[in-house]
Amino acid sequence: MTVTWRILLYVAGALAAVAGIYLMSARRRFRKSIKWCTSKASMKGKVVVITGASSGIGKEAARVLARRGARVVMACRNLPKANKMAEEIKKNTGNDLAEVQLLDTSDMISVRKFANAFLEKEKRLDVLILNAGIAGPARLSFTGQAQELTLATNHLGHFLLTNILLGLLKKSSPSRIIVVASSAHCFAKDLDINDLNNKNRPYVGPNEAYNNSKLCNILFVEQLSHYLQGTDVACNALSPGLVDTEIFFKTEGLMSLKLFGLFTKLVGQTAAEGAQTIIHLATSEEVAGAKGEFFRYCEPIVSLPTTYDQGLAKKLWEKSEDMVDLKPEEKHL
Ligand SMILES: NC(=O)c1ccc[n+]([C@@H]2O[C@H](COP(=O)([O-])OP(=O)(O)OC[C@H]3O[C@@H](n4cnc5c(N)ncnc54)[C@H](OP(=O)(O)O)[C@@H]3O)[C@@H](O)[C@H]2O)c1
Ligand SMILES: *[C@@H]1O[C@H](CO)[C@@H](O)[C@H](O)[C@H]1NC(C)=O
Repeated sequence: MTVTWRILLYVAGALAAVAGIYLMSARRRFRKSIKWCTSKASMKGKVVVITGASSGIGKEAARVLARRGARVVMACRNLPKANKMAEEIKKNTGNDLAEVQLLDTSDMISVRKFANAFLEKEKRLDVLILNAGIAGPARLSFTGQAQELTLATNHLGHFLLTNILLGLLKKSSPSRIIVVASSAHCFAKDLDINDLNNKNRPYVGPNEAYNNSKLCNILFVEQLSHYLQGTDVACNALSPGLVDTEIFFKTEGLMSLKLFGLFTKLVGQTAAEGAQTIIHLATSEEVAGAKGEFFRYCEPIVSLPTTYDQGLAKKLWEKSEDMVDLKPEEKHL
């Protein structure tokens, strides 16, 4: 080996060591903030609906709530995959009541089908967890109903679902609505309220679409909690923190996101850890009456100032009503 090669090898080794030390210390710092839900409240007799429970933090939240005795309805788009998870949860918790129902949050026809069938069959709904989500697609994509895919999946479907189920949630109160948003909403600086479907401007990219949809999640909670004043329906948003899940690997053609997913494998939380704030909001007595708050690591924190903008929250609500064509009989405010 020539001297030059040997030097290069040493340099590469030193760089790898520095990167390793950096990652380990980042991981240690990050892991210090993780908090586990301390509530031991039983969920026996309670009915929980959770969207996107076929993987990641939704699945782990479903598992814990089932273990505590709840009847968990896993509302998922991929039935074979979700059924496998439900079987695993039943075996693992000894709770036979976990069940799967078809729901594609990006498709408003599917949302209506699920929600109306639920209303027909069920007598109560104690906890509604809006968790399903995707990272933005590499290229601007639209659903069959001409809605931008990220917005439809992460926000519009959940908006419609909540509206249709709200009467039952009120009837079943004290009840809770939990919206899985993200700290990424902080980067959503220019949500174009008049062009939510991104039809009249260039697609800046998947991150912007995702960040905007997560800002919509929190603005939705802001406005909903306003409408829910005086009721016993809690309604809050959360960020799970950085969690090692499938979400980073599902989007075609986004190498950068996959690399970030690999980084998350090294420093992120496990899905079971990432589910803790959902579990806290679903079970803890401490937050039974909370409304319009944003939680991370089982504690309320401040979100972006924009998320407290009442005018914007109301405008988003009205736009969303138009976009999903909300019918009078679907309104229960
Ligand atoms: N991981 C993180 O670091 C992180 C950080 C901040 C926020 N979040 C949020 O956490 C939530 C859960 O994500 P995750 O990290 O657990 O990712 P995940 O493992 O990919 O889980 C996402 C779930 O949503 C489902 N889903 C996606 N599109 C759907 C649709 N159109 N209809 C119904 N279900 C759909 C997925 O179903 P399939 O199994 O069929 O794909 C899956 O069950 C998301 O809202 C995400 O934005 C995650
Ligand atoms: C979206 O949020 C992420 C943090 O999750 C940030 O790194 C990225 O720069 C943001 N992108 C845009 C376009 O706002």
